[in-house]
Parts: sequence; structure tokens; C-alpha cells
Amino acid sequence: MNTTRSLRKGIRIDVHPNLDSLQTAAAKYIVSILEARLRAKNRASLVLSGGSTPRPIFERLAASAMRRRLNWDQINIFWGDERWVPPENHESNFGMAWHAFLSKIRIPPANIHRISGEIKSADKAALAYQAEIRKIHPASGIPSFDLVLLGLGEDGHTASLFPEMQWNKKRLVIASFVEKLGTFRISMTPRLFNAAHTVIFIVAGSGKSKAVANVLENPECKVPASLIRPTGGRLIWMLDRAAAGELTRYSQDKTSD
Ligand code: 6PG
Repeated sequence: MNTTRSLRKGIRIDVHPNLDSLQTAAAKYIVSILEARLRAKNRASLVLSGGSTPRPIFERLAASAMRRRLNWDQINIFWGDERWVPPENHESNFGMAWHAFLSKIRIPPANIHRISGEIKSADKAALAYQAEIRKIHPASGIPSFDLVLLGLGEDGHTASLFPEMQWNKKRLVIASFVEKLGTFRISMTPRLFNAAHTVIFIVAGSGKSKAVANVLENPECKVPASLIRPTGGRLIWMLDRAAAGELTRYSQDKTSD
């Protein structure tokens, strides 16, 4: 079965036959984008997503054939969001990425910029992260990451931006109490995500198909994931067939894998 690719309103939608081909394609695409950015400017920044979908992709990045393609000395790693927990907690997005791939590649510790979920005040952690991002991207204006990875929740949340959440539109990183989770989360905001060079949503499973169709095909959609539209950058949705199951209007231009 082929991967199908379509372009709708400037959004590229790749639908892969199954979870394994999605995960492999995503890992390859992440590496090729970072390679291109390193060729262009000798530095690159990668923003990791959390949750369970990315783990197998991160594990592929740690495999020698992939990791050897990049000079990790030149790559800075950030997180799009974090749970309000210490790094050793099983819920930590940093912890997941550390075990899946960062602990297996040669990357200077100074290049790993985790969100300090252990700080007693979640808002202080958000403000500290915002300051760290600006320190690494000293240019004025909104820092532009080279590549941002995002996931999608069944309710249309992305990163830790949940429906009904309000945030200060001037902030680049916020902390919010998430009612349905009964805890604080720390998250980059659409203002920061949308300054990126490339944003890739990686979504798998039939459980997400309604949320995917809502974001990509409902013009009235207001969930947080629908706010992610890079101002000058690229937006790509990488799906498996199950997650694309409710999409009705993407053209099936066949492309080979
Ligand atoms: C998090 C993520 C979150 C995630 C979605 C999908 O911290 O959990 O940033 O936005 O991407 O909830 O999670 P799954 O990949 O586990 O379905």
C-alpha cells in the first residue's frame, strides 16, 4: 500500500498505510529536515512532543543509521510541553525522550533544554523556560525553532494546550491548571509554535480520527490544535490510515513510499 500525500490550504497531509510505516517515515523526515537546516546554518533546534506516540520514533532516531547522520553538537533540543513533575517521574516528557534516545546519542548536555517540571510554582517554571528559549535565540522578535513535533489528543489538545484553556497571548510559554487532569501543565503557546520553520503533527490510531477530521476539515473548528498554523513556515500532518479514517476530502494523489 502506498503513502498518499495531499496538500490542502497549504497543509501537507501524508497518510501512511500503518503505524510502523508512519513511525519510520517520521524518523527519516525528522533527520532529513535537521540535515537540511544544518547545511543551511550549522545550527538547528528541535522541539519534542510528549505522550506515547513519539517514543517509537525517538527510538528509531537513536538507531545508529539515523543518529550518525546528524552532528548533535549543533542541535539544541527543547520540549513543546511538560508535565508538572520531576524529570525522573514516569510521566515526564523529558524522561521519556531521555530513555528513548537522548541517553543513546552523543549530544552535549548543554544542548538539552528541559522544562523544569519539578519547580514548585508551575508558572515560575514556564517563565524560566521562556527566558531559556530567549537566551538560546537572542535575536529580537519571536524565537523560530527549526522543527517542532506535535501530537494530538482526542479532544483536540496539542502540547498542553487544552480546550477551554485561556492564556496570555503575549506569552511564549505558559503554565495552566488542567481541570480534566487535576494538575498543572507547562506548554509553549501557538505564538511560539507558529514562528517555527516546520511543524509536524504525528498522529496515529482510529481514536484520533474524529479529532483529525475536525481540525483539518471543519472550518469552524476552534480546538487548540487548529490554532497551529506557522506564519511563514511549513505545516505537515503525518498520519496512519487509522487516524485519517474520518478525512473525507484529501485527494488521493498516489505517491510511492
Ligand atoms: C503530552 C503531549 C500531548 C500529546 C497528546 C497525544 O504531554 O501528553 O504533549 O499533547 O501529544 O496528548 O498523546 P499520545 O501520543 O499519548 O496519544
